[in-house]
Amino acid sequence: MDIYRSVIRPVLFSGVKADPEWLHQQTLGVLGWLDYHHQQPLARWLHHQLAKAYCLNDDRLAQSLWGLQFSNPIGLAAGFDKDGVASGVWSSFGFGFAELGTVTFTPQPGNPPPRLFRLPLDNAALNRMGFNNQGAAAMAHTLQQRWGNALSPLPSPFPIGVNLGKSKSTPLEEAAADYLGSFQWLKDWGNYFVVNVSSPNTPGLRSLQATEQLEPILAALQQENAGQKPLLIKIAPDLEWEAIAAVLELAQTYKLAGIIATNTTIRRDGLTTQVVRSTGKSVQEEAGGISGAPLRQRSTEVIRFIWQETQGNLPIIGVGGVFTPEDAWEKITAGASLVQVYTGWVYEGPAMVRHLLEGLLQKMAERGLTSLSQAIGLKE
Ligand SMILES: Cc1cc2nc3c(=O)[nH]c(=O)nc-3n(C[C@H](O)[C@H](O)[C@H](O)COP(=O)(O)O)c2cc1C
Repeated sequence: MDIYRSVIRPVLFSGVKADPEWLHQQTLGVLGWLDYHHQQPLARWLHHQLAKAYCLNDDRLAQSLWGLQFSNPIGLAAGFDKDGVASGVWSSFGFGFAELGTVTFTPQPGNPPPRLFRLPLDNAALNRMGFNNQGAAAMAHTLQQRWGNALSPLPSPFPIGVNLGKSKSTPLEEAAADYLGSFQWLKDWGNYFVVNVSSPNTPGLRSLQATEQLEPILAALQQENAGQKPLLIKIAPDLEWEAIAAVLELAQTYKLAGIIATNTTIRRDGLTTQVVRSTGKSVQEEAGGISGAPLRQRSTEVIRFIWQETQGNLPIIGVGGVFTPEDAWEKITAGASLVQVYTGWVYEGPAMVRHLLEGLLQKMAERGLTSLSQAIGLKE
């Protein structure tokens, strides 16, 4: 029996204290404690118990990408551990990698609450968090305390990505310096880095996806980087094909390591939910991005487009609406080398990663594939 789905989730999702952000903070508080005390016997024992329940090790799922070793293709998406307070626990939940952030140069509170809503009828969430985080310097400090020199030199057995965003107080014209400042703080503390220009919750941020605005950001970061760390860009699902093609050209010019597709969508079509229960307002009226099941198909289409445009030469991290092994397989066969999850993990609980990995292995076996990399972009 899956205790999370049958007992824990119904209590969490329906209780008096079921405010989703409160729950998130409580969860992260516990996991942060567990990570901080990882050398103490109780924490070690708990880590071990988690790993026993949730990890699945199989060489057929392993990949080497950008000189990094991924023990499996399922990662935690950005936004869950925004300050990197639990960076050491994610491997015990069975993930193959985790992306921390989004972090901004300036610490900032984000948008006023309520700013995170569950849409259970749609297996979805609506959020307008607005990059609430402690800032790049604080994250660098946290990661340094946790890892010492362990994250560098590479390779690491559990790659950690750091997702960078623009501070709300920084004007769009000065975005490049803002991203650069965060990267300078953090470049020793991540295995890969992501330029996030796709959150709908910082005014004007998504306009940075346009060539003229993106170019100075990528130029500044890659000059500082000098080829040391893989740099990726995370894009919105709401871009037109031409705009995505333009990003891909820049990706080539600036030798980006890959694309993360996609962030949340500002579209509201196809939702069963009409009214957001906790505010009583219509889902159209509530600002923010939709994640989860309603995003699945569009995100896969974007992945397929990128794969085709680049003839499979640019690695893709696929994210959006993954709940089942079928969803993950769909992303991989559309061209994703790695897959991230957020909303699905919240709905399905911690057993989900292992379930995804078992399902992927089964699909590989049915097709006679001996390594996950053979499934990437596989036409079925
Ligand atoms: C509450 C919440 C906060 C998020 N915060 C971030 C963030 O800070 N940076 C980012 O790049 N994506 C963020 N995302 C987007 C996710 O990383 C992911 O791209 C998106 O949710 C689609 O995946 P999913 O359907 O598996 O949730 C957030 C998503 C949610 C639900």
